Amino acid sequence: MTDETIPSLRERVILVTGAGSGLGRASAHACAARGATVILLGRTTRKLEQVYDEITAAGHPQPAIFPMDLEKAADHDFDTLAQTIGYQLRRLDGIIHCAAEFEPPSPLGLQSVEAWQRLYKVNVIAPFAIDRACLPLLAAAPDASVVLVGESHGHQPAAYWGGFAVAKAALEAYFRIQAAEWAGSANLRVNLVIPGPINSPQRARSHPGEDKARLPGLGSLAGELAGLMSAGGRGQLIEWQPPD
Ligand SMILES: NC(=O)c1ccc[n+]([C@@H]2O[C@H](COP(=O)([O-])OP(=O)(O)OC[C@H]3O[C@@H](n4cnc5c(N)ncnc54)[C@H](OP(=O)(O)O)[C@@H]3O)[C@@H](O)[C@H]2O)c1
Repeated sequence: MTDETIPSLRERVILVTGAGSGLGRASAHACAARGATVILLGRTTRKLEQVYDEITAAGHPQPAIFPMDLEKAADHDFDTLAQTIGYQLRRLDGIIHCAAEFEPPSPLGLQSVEAWQRLYKVNVIAPFAIDRACLPLLAAAPDASVVLVGESHGHQPAAYWGGFAVAKAALEAYFRIQAAEWAGSANLRVNLVIPGPINSPQRARSHPGEDKARLPGLGSLAGELAGLMSAGGRGQLIEWQPPD
């Protein structure tokens, strides 16, 4: 799908998690450039403010900022997020879940319970809890779209990927359950996108010695995620391939 064929996101409100860096930042830009009002959610306010400034400087709709530590968030925090969106923006048309916790690969014998809990909380529980809290807003939208971002080692676990792969596998299980529950809905869609290697901050940590110049940049994948906000898949697991 090219930029020209992606329908406008004007009038839509899109929540992007992990919006302060990497794929989340690129996705926020891609949605804003298509006319969406973007809610920038992330842990570090300074990074969110920078993305806010970039989007407004580009002349796109004024975004909103919602700093939130997904590792520490409890039920009432997710409810507050949904209530704030409803009160301030009156609608929610889509969510792109890019926030992710990562631990460098290591043997299972060296992995801690604390790290596994952190990985599970940010990578699995948070997307579920955000979707659940925001469901009334999504259900009221004419065409609501949720995108989850998976990882190839969650799809096909391998040695040393430990708690990160287990959490991403659980995210895939959550995706299948949510897709099945929304299969009969006229206005609720969820898709899971597995990026493969992309030149993003997480990749720099998982493959530190790699030549980053050989990796696809974030722009075209972010455009694909923005495109899914208004058209395309329903219950699809998309193993993303960069355009030739
Ligand atoms: N890079 C690849 O090759 C690749 C391949 C396959 C899949 N993916 C997936 O693509 C997604 C994005 O990757 P990326 O490299 O763009 O990631 P990234 O730049 O490392 O960004 C992760 C984001 O998540 C936020 N985050 C982390 N912990 C958080 C918490 N407790 N509360 C709130 N926000 C939190 C971070 O915010 P702060 O910066 O403020 O901490 C950051 O903005 C991930 O799901 C990743 O697994 C990447």
